[in-house]
Parts: sequence; C-alpha cells; structure tokens
Amino acid sequence: MSVPSTQEVIEAPVSDYDAFSLESLHDVHGHDGAQREIAPVVYMEKYDYYAITRFAEIQKALRDWRTFSSTDRPFYAPSPFRPRTLILEDPPEHTASKGAVMRVFDEGNLKKMGEYFKAEAERLLDQMLADGPADIDAFDDLSVKYILKVFPDVLGLPEGGRELLLKFGDAVFNVFGPPSELQKQKLESGAVAIDWVEENTARERQSEGGIGWQLYQMADEGKVSEHTAQQILKSIFAAGFDTTTASIASMVRAFADNPAEWQKLRENPSLVDNAWEEAIRFYPASRYGGRVAIKETVLGGVRIPEGAKILTMWLGSGRDPRQFVNPNEFHVDRDMARGHLSFGFGIHTCAGNVVARLEATTLLRAMVERIEKIELVGEPRQTVNYQAFGHDSVPVRLTPVAR
Ligand code: HEM
Repeated sequence: MSVPSTQEVIEAPVSDYDAFSLESLHDVHGHDGAQREIAPVVYMEKYDYYAITRFAEIQKALRDWRTFSSTDRPFYAPSPFRPRTLILEDPPEHTASKGAVMRVFDEGNLKKMGEYFKAEAERLLDQMLADGPADIDAFDDLSVKYILKVFPDVLGLPEGGRELLLKFGDAVFNVFGPPSELQKQKLESGAVAIDWVEENTARERQSEGGIGWQLYQMADEGKVSEHTAQQILKSIFAAGFDTTTASIASMVRAFADNPAEWQKLRENPSLVDNAWEEAIRFYPASRYGGRVAIKETVLGGVRIPEGAKILTMWLGSGRDPRQFVNPNEFHVDRDMARGHLSFGFGIHTCAGNVVARLEATTLLRAMVERIEKIELVGEPRQTVNYQAFGHDSVPVRLTPVAR
C-alpha cells in the first residue's frame, strides 16, 4: 500500500485501552468509539495489537488481503470452537472454500429458503398476535424461535439440541480474546455443544439435497477436501445463529426506541431492506475481526510494522462521523448506498450475509404488515461477549394492526 509522499507518516498513538475488560464490554459503542476518535490506527499496548478504528481505513485494509493476511491474528490459538477454514485462510485456499459455501447459498437455494422463511415468519407472528397485543421478549420469543426453526430446518438438523447452537456460537465469539473469567465461563458453557456439532456436521448425518449434503457432494467432485466440507459446515453452525438472533433482537430494540421510524417504515414498506441495513449498521452483530500485517505498511498516515497483529474494529466504524451523518441516530431512510462494514468487506465478506439478510428482511416485512406499535415494557439487555454484539433480552409489547 503506497502513501502519497506529501503525507506525513506517524507512529501509531499508544493507548492503554483494554477492549476486553468488563467495563469496555458493557459500553462497546462508547469505548470503541473513543478510540476511533484518537486516530485511524491505534497501538493498544496491553495486548500488543494495532486497532484499525475508522471506516475508510478498515475498508482499505480489508481490500488489501496481500498485506493484511487472515492466516494469523490476535489471540489465535487452536480451539475446538474455531473451525479451521475460511476465516483463517488467504487465497488460493480461501477461494476454494468460499466458492463452495457461496454455491450452497446460490439463487436456487435462496429462493426455496425465502419461501419457507416467509411462511414461518407469518405463522409465528399470527400465532403471537392472535389475541391482541402481546408482551414478549423479542430475543427468546421472536428472534430465537424464528431463527432456530427456519435455519436448522434448512440445514436438515434434528429438533432436539438446537439450543446448543446458541451456546456454541456464544463460545465461538469469546475465543478471540485474552483468557479471563468471562472467557472461561463461556467456553465451559459452550463445551456441551462440541460433540453435538461434530455429530451433526458428519457426512452420514446429512439429509439428501440439504446444505450439508451439497457440501459433501462438492468434496466428492474434488472441489474441496472432505475435511474442509465439514469445517465449512461447522463455520455455518458457528457463525450463523448467535449473529442473526442477536441482531434481530437489536433491530426490534432500535424500533422500540424510535417509534417514529417504525411508523415511517409502516407507511413505506419498500424501505424494509434499507431499514435492515441501517439496523445492522447501528447495532452490528460482530464487533471486530483480526488480521496480521505480513509486511510493513502505512494506513491513514500511520505506520504499521511487519508482523503486527491487527484488530479491525467494525462496530465503531458503523458510527464513524466521517462516513455517516448523525451516526448515533437510527433512520430507516438513511442513504445506505455508502455501505457499512457490519458484514466485513473484501474477500472475507460474510459468507452467510445473503441468508442473514433474507431471514431478517423476511421477518421484518411480516412484522410491518402486522404490527402497529412496538413499545419497550422492560429494560433491554445487551450481550456481554468479546466479539459478538447484540441483545439477549428485549421485552416489548407488540400491538397488532386493527383488522
Ligand atoms: C447478522 C448476521 C451476521 C453478521 C453481522 C455477520 C458478520 C460477519 C463478518 C463481519 C464477517 C467477516 C469476518 C472477517 O473478515 O474476519 C463474517 C464472516 C463469515 N460469516 Fe457472517 N455474519 C452474520 C451471519 C452469518 C450467517 C447467517 C452465516 C452462515 C449461514 C455466516 C457465516 C459466515 C462465514 C462462514 C464467514 C467467513 C467468511 C470468510 O472468511 O470468507 N454469517 N460474518
């Protein structure tokens, strides 16, 4: 990455910020946001990593995978929770794995998924609202019920044990950080899921025509190895549940806090897709990613040494005032053409983003048709997790449209 010769290159400002302390985790927007305002790249001395904090610089780094490799990252240690594919690969290995996962989420499969998601979202809401206003928890009663029904069905998973997917994901997103009491608890709690995930990603468990079966077919065709097929399936299990459940609950919170935005959306349902993009910008489900600088480089005028471990702080980038006007406000009609980094960017852009988008917008569309008002009836609770962000409780009253 070259730097204009007129630009002064500085050493990264040294920060004593501990991104993994409980204090930080209880207010990630405030704390990560404060680092963003120091510089585009900050050296966090406690753990010896470089945090890229601003939208433009994160995007630039993610585009440049030859400099910012995925094969190593801060706090990397092999773990039964961490599938060894995709996220840890550079091309050419990554290209093959990503190609396989993109093939199972092709147009044909997505079309079938979309029809099924719609039927289930409508069924769930109609049941919930059958007797008038419903006091529910938008996490347990809406988001988890919907996601743990529709996506495991698509994957062909048994009914029993699906709740383990949330425990598994909660642990997966806590591996990536320093040892702590919090990490210990999450890993212990997730340990019960390891065998279930292993069994249900095995070839013999896949039902014919399902997503897993299609991945193993690609192994038979020599497109990926048998081992990689299982690791990809594990990645889908690891990344495909906590993220969507938490972000749908967060979206409901954003609407409960901003009733005028709900009315705006009800008056103009064509904004549903845009509203979801705004929700995921406002409350991203993933707080940061990791890379390693394989050569010395300069980013945003800041020198990054060879071998530096990098955190890409995309949660903070969603509130970067250099990129977004009034970033701390939630507006369903915000011009999202400027994009967001909540699904990452570049070759590692979320492999399941099409599924996540389909799940969320299908549910949101069904909600817009049926719900007049969303009000908070209790205190929402944010998840406390190193890498995942979202809500695991959002008590709300849903008032149905008068019919
Ligand atoms: C709202 C929901 C979701 C969010 C916010 C999200 C976010 C992300 C982000 C930020 C990355 C990039 C990581 C990096 O560059 O280091 C990523 C990668 C990935 N995500 Fe998601 N994700 C979501 C849902 C899903 C779902 C539903 C699936 C599976 C069906 C999934 C599977 C993956 C996989 C396999 C990767 C690795 C891609 C690669 O390395 O090329 N994600 N996700």
